[in-house]
Amino acid sequence: MLRVAVLASGRGSNLGALLDASRAEDSGYAIVGVFSDQLEAGALDIARAAGIPALALTRKKAQDRSQYDAEFFRHVCQVQPDLIVCAGYMRIISAEALAHLSMPTINIHPSLLPKYPGLHTHARALEAGDTEHGSSVHVVTAELDAGPLLAQARIAVRSGDTPDDLAARVLTQEHRLLPACVHAIATGRLRLSTMPPQFDGQPLAAPLSLHQNTLQPQVNP
Ligand code: GAR
Repeated sequence: MLRVAVLASGRGSNLGALLDASRAEDSGYAIVGVFSDQLEAGALDIARAAGIPALALTRKKAQDRSQYDAEFFRHVCQVQPDLIVCAGYMRIISAEALAHLSMPTINIHPSLLPKYPGLHTHARALEAGDTEHGSSVHVVTAELDAGPLLAQARIAVRSGDTPDDLAARVLTQEHRLLPACVHAIATGRLRLSTMPPQFDGQPLAAPLSLHQNTLQPQVNP
C-alpha cells in the first residue's frame, strides 16, 4: 500500500475525491495524514470525519518560509509517507524543504501548464481567449508550478463562460485526474524515480491525458 500524505489549504474537495477512490479494493494507496497551513481548512474536517490524522500548523510571525517548512514537513514525515500530494495547498514550498524530502511530491494546478502558473488561472484563460482549459498534475520542484508534467485533463471553453463556470468544470475533472495519477503511481504504472518520469516503462514525452477515469499517453504529443 502506498502511504500518501495530503497537503491542503482549503475546502478539500480534491482530498475527498482521493479518499473516495482510495476505498476501491485495487486503489493501491491509503491516505495516512492530512496537513494544512490553515486552521479552518475544510480538508481537516474531511480527514477527521474519515478517522485520518489531521494537523494544521500556521506560520508564526518569527518564522521565515524555510523555518516554517522545516517544522511543517517534520510533522508530515512522521506519518512516513511514500508520496506527498498537494491538493489545493496554496503555499510555495521552500527549496530547502523539498531538498530534504526523500519521497516525491506532486501538485494539482488548475490550468494547462505551462500556461498560467500561479493564481487566477480561469480568468487568465478567458482573457487570453483560450478555447480549451484544464488542469495539470506535476512533480513539485523549487520553481513554482514548473516541475515535470505528469498528466492533464482538458475542458472546452464555451462562449459566455465566467471564471466560476470554468472553475466548476475544471474541478469536476480534477476529481478524476488526481485519483487516477495517485493510482497509477501506487500501482507502479507511473514511475517518478526516473527523470523524465516513466509510464508503462516508457519515458513520458508529453503529459498523460485523462480518458474516462484512466490515464493514457497522448496520441500525437
Ligand atoms: C483546486 O482547483 C486546485 O487545482 C487548486 O485549488 C483548488 C483546491 O480545491 N490548486 C491551486 O490553485 C494550487 N496552485 P479543493 O480545496 O476543493 O480541493
